[in-house]
Amino acid sequence: MASIKIENLVKAYPNRRHHRRKGDPYVPGQMIKVLDDVNLEFADGEMVCILGPSGCGKSTMLKILAGFDTATSGRILVDGREVTEPTSDYIFVFQQSGLLPWMTVWQNVELGVRHMQDEEEKAAQIQEYIDMVELSNFEQHFPHQLSGGMQRRAELARALVVNPDMLIMDEPFTGLDFLTRMKMREEVVNMHEFIGKSILMVTHDIDDALVMADHIVVMGDTPARVKLDRKLTFDRPRDIGTGELAELRDEVYFMLGVSYVV
Ligand SMILES: Nc1ncnc2c1ncn2[C@@H]1O[C@H](COP(=O)(O)OP(=O)(O)OP(=O)(O)O)[C@@H](O)[C@H]1O
Ligand SMILES: [Mg+2]
Repeated sequence: MASIKIENLVKAYPNRRHHRRKGDPYVPGQMIKVLDDVNLEFADGEMVCILGPSGCGKSTMLKILAGFDTATSGRILVDGREVTEPTSDYIFVFQQSGLLPWMTVWQNVELGVRHMQDEEEKAAQIQEYIDMVELSNFEQHFPHQLSGGMQRRAELARALVVNPDMLIMDEPFTGLDFLTRMKMREEVVNMHEFIGKSILMVTHDIDDALVMADHIVVMGDTPARVKLDRKLTFDRPRDIGTGELAELRDEVYFMLGVSYVV
């Protein structure tokens, strides 16, 4: 279970600039707002995709949701309980690599299921997810022996093997080649349909969002606010090249500053 309610969320960071130029509006020590009064509600089991320009506060919002950072004001409720600290019920796939460099692919994935008692079942599960992300034969490699895309896939395997109540992914497909990206989209959508757990994903790829999401959010402006909050009820697999989805695609591109999609 994971219904999510974001209420009047505001986040400000201290201004770290120390040198003032003439006419500089900033004062050292002043707080700079990143998120301004964000209100969102996601139903239990929704697949949510969050879009927005770089630096607008997407990762910040996810970190507060996961309990790694705190709100300046407002709050986030998961199943009616305010988030105050990280919990093992949610798995976070970070924007930067989160693999432990001194552990092999197998050991990194194993971290997700280390509590499992039955060794045989555990090994089968680890292998299943390593195979799913197509890293078979790389089980004994260390992260530095993998390409960027392979590291990303190992991380996805580690997150998915946990089968958490909520999966929070910050640009999980960055660095994947086109075909792997398509496969991972499919895997995540299938997994979501099969398990029905909540997934929140930040992506820069509008097509990822339109193909995958039950609910899309576009953030923008400085400080960031919600510019679009829409549920998508289209059947899958989806054709984003025609009809309502194509119109929505143009609308989102335009919202993000691209007026002519080639
Ligand atoms: N710990 C911090 N201290 C000070 N400022 C921060 C901190 N973390 C983030 N910021 C600022 O908050 C703003 C939003 O950052 P955030 O990482 O949430 O953006 P983002 O939308 O995820 O961008 P991207 O798409 O590039 O990942 C940025 O201006 C960033 O400099
Ligand atoms: Mg980010």
